[in-house]
Amino acid sequence: MAYLKPTLIALLIFLGFITSAFSQSPQGYDLWLGYSKVKDLGLLNEYNDRTNSIYFEDGGEILKAAKKELSSSLEKMLGHIPQFNASRNSKNTLLIAKTATLDAAMAKALSIDFFQMGSEGFAIKSIPHKQKQIIVITANEDIGILYGVFRLLNMMQQNKSLSDVSILDSPKIDIRMLNHWDNLDRTVERGYAGFSLWNWHKLPEYIDQRYIDYARANASIGINAVSLTNVNANALIMTPMYLEKVRALANVFRPYGIKVYLTARFSAPIEIGGLATADPLESKVQDWWNQKANEIYTLIPDFGGFLVKANSEGQPGPQNYGRNHVDGANMMAKALYPHHGKVIWRAFVYSEHDSEDRAKQAYNEFVPLDGQFMDNVLVQTKNGPIDFQPREPFHPMFGAMPKTPLMMEFQITQEYLGFSTHLVFLPKLFEEVLGLDTFRNGKGSTVSKVVDGSLDKKKISGMAGVTNIGNDMNWTGHPFAQANWYGFGRLAWDPYLSAESIADEWLRISYSNNPAFVKPVKKMMLASREAVVNYMNPLGLHHIFDTGHHYGPGPWVSELSRPEWNPTYYHKADSKGIGFNRGPSGSNATAQYAAEVAKTYNDLKTCPEEYLLWFHHLPWDYTLKNGLSLWDGMALKYQEGVDQVEEMIATWNNARPYITNEQYQEVQMLLKIQLKEAQWWRNACLLYFQTYSKKEIPEGVEKSTNSLEYYQSLKFPFAPGIRPQWN
Ligand code: GCU
Repeated sequence: MAYLKPTLIALLIFLGFITSAFSQSPQGYDLWLGYSKVKDLGLLNEYNDRTNSIYFEDGGEILKAAKKELSSSLEKMLGHIPQFNASRNSKNTLLIAKTATLDAAMAKALSIDFFQMGSEGFAIKSIPHKQKQIIVITANEDIGILYGVFRLLNMMQQNKSLSDVSILDSPKIDIRMLNHWDNLDRTVERGYAGFSLWNWHKLPEYIDQRYIDYARANASIGINAVSLTNVNANALIMTPMYLEKVRALANVFRPYGIKVYLTARFSAPIEIGGLATADPLESKVQDWWNQKANEIYTLIPDFGGFLVKANSEGQPGPQNYGRNHVDGANMMAKALYPHHGKVIWRAFVYSEHDSEDRAKQAYNEFVPLDGQFMDNVLVQTKNGPIDFQPREPFHPMFGAMPKTPLMMEFQITQEYLGFSTHLVFLPKLFEEVLGLDTFRNGKGSTVSKVVDGSLDKKKISGMAGVTNIGNDMNWTGHPFAQANWYGFGRLAWDPYLSAESIADEWLRISYSNNPAFVKPVKKMMLASREAVVNYMNPLGLHHIFDTGHHYGPGPWVSELSRPEWNPTYYHKADSKGIGFNRGPSGSNATAQYAAEVAKTYNDLKTCPEEYLLWFHHLPWDYTLKNGLSLWDGMALKYQEGVDQVEEMIATWNNARPYITNEQYQEVQMLLKIQLKEAQWWRNACLLYFQTYSKKEIPEGVEKSTNSLEYYQSLKFPFAPGIRPQWN
């Protein structure tokens, strides 16, 4: 035996080594929940002191999840296992309990209007109690406690002092939702971070740890709904075999307050129901949906509802039977109504058979239907009238449907913003759209007030983000793309937050609290959205992406069968000038906005230059506000975008001392690609538009060493995120 001893010890040491090596998550996996040690000694003392005894009210699975999160994260942040105390006595310095169980003295000391917290809100307050100062987290419902715990942890990660903490917060939007465009074969439409998280093959038995970590991440930012499947839906998801798998995911998400939704293919009654029609006015079809809803709710009692893309880009819908969107949506809404389910009906519609400006079509189809949808229907509208471009004016429907809950649809995945290769901080884009004024009820009728329902006192509100999440090690491909997931969640919770504060929070909890790091990197993030606009689509240009995959520039594409899929449809460049005339002498799309907005956009003197070519076709020598000709100004904008990426690279180089070498390297490599692609955009677009403007590239703009033919010859048959049907 004795001779075995050293080997055994060596083995144990080795095992110890590998366990510790593997107990570290791969880089980026922890997202913003890394819970690194709270370094500042003063604060460490404060937290140590405050948390050495915690009372955490017992309860169901949500409270259990909250307690587990608190316990494991405090252990990581403080370096020791926190003490939980089974009774509410003077030992506690942190007390976590629902409002209904607080004793009268404590409720009084809190001096909070509990009603104001609603069902999902929470309070975190430092109060004097039994001769000492304690921190209380309270909420009316379990889910509020979970959100409160996550907020406390978030503050600790940001090194915020808790001595005088006094927070009362509740979400301003009801449905805060991620839309996955995930297919059953695990490819992801417009997904740039690997394959789908949902391993349908191994579900329902095999529960990947990722599902739990995904739910934790979502709950930490208040997301409470996820639609699992692509809007270009497959009816198979509604078959019993798949519903069992969906149930398994719903069970994982429930303790984190997340409801599951599915995309419903309108023709499902034919494809999996054996019916000859999917006509919404046919009683057989209605019965089929009623029964399908009953079946789903038997398995998943808190199922959220259906997300539907109908009569859009070839998807089946009620119009196939001469019916309209109300007929289709209300049929499904009736089936879900007894179960409190919702129908989220998408307004992303346009047709190749409609010669009307594509930007006008959704408004034309939907606005006349205002007031006819059932109470449990929300109409989900993309932020702009075309399709998730780097910049668009707000969708005119936001100013025109006072009787219908309009759910905002943002795209977090960067289909038109450089995939997961370019560093683009999207909360800048989201903030811009939410802050625009529809003037529907006079000045101050911002998009945010339409979306949160406050403008028209709507009963329900929602915001959806098409996710950028896949099974990549760091979930989102680009480490900074995590900030877009985080930022979307924060804005869905509170659409009045500033992009600046979100960037600040995210950097602190994901990388470092050191101001020497946070300040310049935050500046870089905040400038990144404008940079991508400049090097891709300056001055209101839009949809000039190469066809199908939308990777790189393709302003020359003109021969696709559907006219409105051709970039030439959007920029309308010719020898006279460039841009889409959407004013009264053109498509008159501006008439879909309130008079004040239309006037601003119609008049060249007041139209913001960032929308110039969205609303106007202008001569190449038109004089911009800075005195430059349109051609020179456009060329310099392209160059400015490239210069901004150079600056991003310099900023990141300076940030090197504050992060690990691996963290530095991965972003540095990505920024180099971003620079190459920004130059590609500048060169390809300017060479192409030059064939019309016939003007010299102005001074200050770097000249391309490649020809236009070279750029036109580039093909990317395997660019990610595309499904064969779009080729
Ligand atoms: C865009 C995108 C498609 C997607 C569609 C939608 O057109 O390119 O992949 O299906 O939007 O939002 O439905």
